[in-house]
Amino acid sequence: MTERRDAVPTPMADPEARNRIVSARQRNEDQRVDGSLRPKSLAEYIGQDRVKTSLSVFIEAAKRRGEPLDHTLLYGPPGLGKTTLAAIIATEMSVSLRVTSGPAIERAGDLVSILTNLKAGDVLFIDEIHRLNRVVEEVLYPALEDFAVDIIIGKGPAARSMRINLPKFTLVGATTRLALMTGPLRDRFGSVLRLDFYDVESMTTIINRSAAILNVAISDDGAYAIAMRSRGTPRIANRLLKRVRDVAEVRGAPVIDRALTAEALEMLDVDELGLDEIDRRILRTIVEKFEGGPVGIDTIAAATSEESDTIMDVYEPYLIQLGFLQRTPRGRIATRHAYDHLKILPPATIDVQQQLLFDDVE
Ligand code: ADE
Repeated sequence: MTERRDAVPTPMADPEARNRIVSARQRNEDQRVDGSLRPKSLAEYIGQDRVKTSLSVFIEAAKRRGEPLDHTLLYGPPGLGKTTLAAIIATEMSVSLRVTSGPAIERAGDLVSILTNLKAGDVLFIDEIHRLNRVVEEVLYPALEDFAVDIIIGKGPAARSMRINLPKFTLVGATTRLALMTGPLRDRFGSVLRLDFYDVESMTTIINRSAAILNVAISDDGAYAIAMRSRGTPRIANRLLKRVRDVAEVRGAPVIDRALTAEALEMLDVDELGLDEIDRRILRTIVEKFEGGPVGIDTIAAATSEESDTIMDVYEPYLIQLGFLQRTPRGRIATRHAYDHLKILPPATIDVQQQLLFDDVE
C-alpha cells in the first residue's frame, strides 16, 4: 500500500488551542509516532465494534464480488481513527490509498487531476470533506455516481464539454460535522458510519498496546489512569503516554504507574477527567458570566477568545459526553455536574430551569 499525503491539516487561528496537550487535533508530532502506533488491520483495531463489524462485512462482500468497496463516509469527533480506518480499508482491499482534504482541493481542476490519476480500486480519502467548496463538490457527483468527470474545453462559443471516464474507485470521506455536509453529497455514500468516543476499557487496551510498541513498562493502574484522562480519544492517549514516559525517564522510574501519571498530568494541567484550562474556562464562562446559560455558541466564543468552530469540533463534544454541557435550541447550558466539577455551588433552581427549557421547545 502506498500513502501519499497531499495536504497538511489547516493551521488553527488560536495557537493556544493548537498546542494544548488534550487537543484531539492532529499535530506534526502525532504523525511521526502514529505510523508505528496505528493499527494496520481491522483485527488489530481496538474498539468501535459496530463500525468494525459493518466494515468487515462490506469489505468481504466487495472482495468476493471483485469490486471496489462502496463509497464510505466516516463521521465523529477528531482523533478517533477516521484516517486510520481509511488506511485499513485500503490495506484490507489490497489497493493504494490517496490522502487529501476538503480545504486542500481549492479548484475543480485540482480534483480532476487527483481523480484522473487514480488506479482501479484505489481508495481516495478526503478528510474534512464538509469543507469542499461547491464547485469542487459538483465535480465529485458524477465521479461518485458514474465514475466520470465532465470537463469544459475551450472558451466562449467554442467551449465544449467532454466526459472523461475514471477507473472505479472508493471514496472514503471523513467529517467532524455531518450537519454541514450537503444532502446530495451525503446521499452518494453507500455507507455512513459514526465513530463514538472510546470507552475506558478500550482506551486502556489501546494504551497497553501503544506502551508495548514504544517499549515502555506500564502498570494496569497506570494505563487506567491515562485512559481516564484521554477523553475517549486514542490520539490524546498516545500523546499523554509519551509525556508520562518523559517524566518516568527523568525520574528514573522503571514503570509508569498511577502516581507517576497523576504527577505528570497535573504538571500538564490536565485534570482527572482529561479537562484542561480551556475546557474549564468554557464551563466557567457559562456558569459565571451567563448564569449557567442558555448562551449562544458565538457568545461563548467571544467571551473565551476561542473560535466557535473549534469549540463545536473539539471541546464541546466531550463536555456533552461527560454530561457537563447540554445543547438546546436556545444555546448551551451548564449542568449540575459541571458546577460540581468546578466546585461551584449550583443555584437551587437549576434543575427546574433546565427542565423548563426543554419543555418549552418540545
Ligand atoms: N491506536 C490508535 N487507535 C487505535 C485503535 N482503535 N486500536 C488500536 N490501536 C490504536
